[in-house]
Amino acid sequence: MIQKISPNTGRAALRALFKEKSPLGPLKVMARQVGRFFQIPLPMFKPYVVFGPQAVRQVLVTERDKVLWRNTDPVTDLLGRGVLVVDGDEHDKYRALMEPPLHPSSLPAYTQMMISQTDRVSTQWHDGETADMLVESRKIALLIIMQTLFSKDVWDDLPRIWKPILKAIEFISPGAWIIWRNMPRPGFRKPLKELDDYLFEIIDNRRRTMDHGQDLLQHLIDAGLTDKIIRDQMLTMMIAGHDTSTALLAWTFALLGQHADIHRRVVDEVNSADKSPLLDQVIKESLRLYPPIHIGNRLVAEEMQFTEGKVPSGERMFYSIYLTHRDPEIWENAENFCPERFAHGRKTPPMSYVPFGGGPRACIGAAFGQAEARIVMARLLKTHTFEFTNHPIHAHMGATLEPRPGVRMKVERRQVDRYTGTHVNR
Ligand code: HEM
Repeated sequence: MIQKISPNTGRAALRALFKEKSPLGPLKVMARQVGRFFQIPLPMFKPYVVFGPQAVRQVLVTERDKVLWRNTDPVTDLLGRGVLVVDGDEHDKYRALMEPPLHPSSLPAYTQMMISQTDRVSTQWHDGETADMLVESRKIALLIIMQTLFSKDVWDDLPRIWKPILKAIEFISPGAWIIWRNMPRPGFRKPLKELDDYLFEIIDNRRRTMDHGQDLLQHLIDAGLTDKIIRDQMLTMMIAGHDTSTALLAWTFALLGQHADIHRRVVDEVNSADKSPLLDQVIKESLRLYPPIHIGNRLVAEEMQFTEGKVPSGERMFYSIYLTHRDPEIWENAENFCPERFAHGRKTPPMSYVPFGGGPRACIGAAFGQAEARIVMARLLKTHTFEFTNHPIHAHMGATLEPRPGVRMKVERRQVDRYTGTHVNR
């Protein structure tokens, strides 16, 4: 049985859309009023939404062979044969090639580089200026991902690639083109071509020099892939590997800004100890409340039976990470920021906390992304003070879930103790 959306629910959903300035509002209303299985009644586009541990397990693990990854949407148009959007053996081949540089055992080698890239960005700030941590986080995440995967220092190229990257992200963000698949979308051809030119230049240079050790690009080249397929993997990793980290860092700043007490405790912790358990909990809780990838998008290839109803083959289906992470049947005070919930180990059922998806196609950069967030946050909180300017923030559903209109914080460098070399509070 399809759970029908009643006119009352429809009206409540519309009100939530205006109030929260995001489709997350209506999704929450439908989840609350209809349950863990519903169909969104848009004209010409009626995707099913499922959430909760049981449905998530079906989609990601036990019945994953019944679904296909995106196949005809702007994400596929942009990423071509990228590992994120292909299925079967082709997917497995690319994934195996790209796993080694992201394996947890490879991560310690990146720590120092992550710190230096963070410092490069933060040393540009002037004391007392207001920085938008959404923008600053993107710079840091881009420098880190390009250096890690392609041994490419993009510092001097940031002005060249910034706009093309933002346009690529806008291209794959939800919009009217989801409903009207062939609607004209002017303004993208030139920046997307500029981004391609940039990536092809990197590939070309590498083919000529071949002296960068075993980074991800080298694995792809050594496997004998064509430039076009390498470009697809590079663009996939570049977008998936920095837009998510950008959102995670920015939301973590937003949450610290909104919770002064926890902010103070985390700052004390990173300034006084090598380990930072509270910072880890804050990052986990940030991923719970604002999972950068808030839904998984699938095409149902073979009918799927969920507890509450069926999804016929040929239909579009989303598994909602966001709704799973805020399900009041699973989480106590689900809407509240409460990092301590992760202090004593999770007592939630498996598949109820899935910021990186799960099963064989779980995020390839999960360990990397978490290590990066810990290192960058700890470094910034050590070297600078951040004072939130207390402006309203809403969750924008772009390619990732982003804090909009940004996270504006007054930044100031901490003084360094002349004798111990450590950063001190002002
Ligand atoms: C905080 C950071 C990150 C978050 C929250 C995140 C989240 C996710 C999620 C939820 C999925 C599964 C989507 C689905 O089931 O449809 C995924 C897949 C993926 N992620 Fe991440 N990600 C992060 C960082 C990264 C990084 C750093 C990289 C690359 C270096 C990366 C590359 C990928 C790729 C290639 C896939 C597709 C894997 C496959 O289909 O085999 N992600 N990510």
